[in-house]
Amino acid sequence: MKKFLVTGGAGFIGSHMCLTLLEKKFKIVVIDSFINSNPKSLERVLKICESNGLNIKDNLKVIKGDLNNKNLIEEIFLSEKNINEPIEGVIHFAGLKAVNESVSDPCLYWQSNLLNLINLLEVMKKFNCKTIVFSSSATIYGKSNKNLKENDPLNPINPYGNTKLAMEILLKDIYNTAPNDWRIANLRYFNPIGSHSSGLIGESPSGNTNNIFPLILKVAHGQLSCLEVFGKDWNTKDGTPIRDYIHVMDLVDAHLCTMIYLFKNKGQIININLGTGKGVTVLDLINSFQKVNKVKIPYVFSKRRKGDVEKLVASNELALKILNWSPKKGIDEMCHDGWKWKKNNPNGYI
Ligand code: WQD
Repeated sequence: MKKFLVTGGAGFIGSHMCLTLLEKKFKIVVIDSFINSNPKSLERVLKICESNGLNIKDNLKVIKGDLNNKNLIEEIFLSEKNINEPIEGVIHFAGLKAVNESVSDPCLYWQSNLLNLINLLEVMKKFNCKTIVFSSSATIYGKSNKNLKENDPLNPINPYGNTKLAMEILLKDIYNTAPNDWRIANLRYFNPIGSHSSGLIGESPSGNTNNIFPLILKVAHGQLSCLEVFGKDWNTKDGTPIRDYIHVMDLVDAHLCTMIYLFKNKGQIININLGTGKGVTVLDLINSFQKVNKVKIPYVFSKRRKGDVEKLVASNELALKILNWSPKKGIDEMCHDGWKWKKNNPNGYI
């Protein structure tokens, strides 16, 4: 069974990815700095596996480290090669992803996100590991009122999005050095929310989050008195912006399907949108959460947030067509599962 390196594997998406890979009996090595993640997430992953009768703890290695340490990345690849279990593919989640922080500290984001990828790719090349799934983002698209296709214009409006686009451009340059060998997929996430159904792993934002779903959970749990809804004068059915929320388990399932697709096919670089294709307004999301969980979410309307767009919804036709994948979980299940995690872990993993 193939062995993958999962960078940022202790994070929100990364930990759900590790669970899915371990359940499919893959071997994985995680490198994570734990700057905005917690190693407890992976302890919980093992607990979920064990509770399902899977004894796979030997299939997971966790290494605390930062991708800015190129020697460490080399040591990881070398040690796996020396036990005849070479790393054959990489799923790259590690990176900084807070839009507002990227606006206040762009150098941090360019330094961290770009240099880390350069280090990773150079080591991958050295060890002839040329398959990578990259965690990209729909924030690289510009404004659009239709469902976005992969070949739509790219026009990020914040430093976070700029680094994601730059990383895609770097990956294209790397691909062009050996197009028959490199197999690269840029997965453009729309809005991942929810948690594994066990309620044992979930999003545990360090510091203040700006994303709506963790804030809804805080309001639901009484940690925040009221949600601010940024604007009710958008040109939508209820005046609030539209997003494409996708269950984190559907998202990581698409990553697994992508890895399998890449290994089955010749060298290529491909961009794939990961969303449900269904638009949900902010008020839809709030109402679904209240209905499913029977919890009130007090909110007030405030002015629009700088940088917000009216609509960000995926055309996921390409994913449906080539990945043998389709999203299975709707907004109600996202709200149910997310609330189960929050009720069990009001303060995340701490
Ligand atoms: C969603 C909607 C807000 C907070 C993010 C980031 C990035 C990306 C996921 C990966 C918007 C509204 C929000 C609040 C609100 N991750 N909102 N009150 O802005 O779509 O983008 O997508 O790449 O994290 O780019 O996500 O959750 O911040 O906002 O009304 O307190 O909720 O206006 O319409 P967004 P979000």
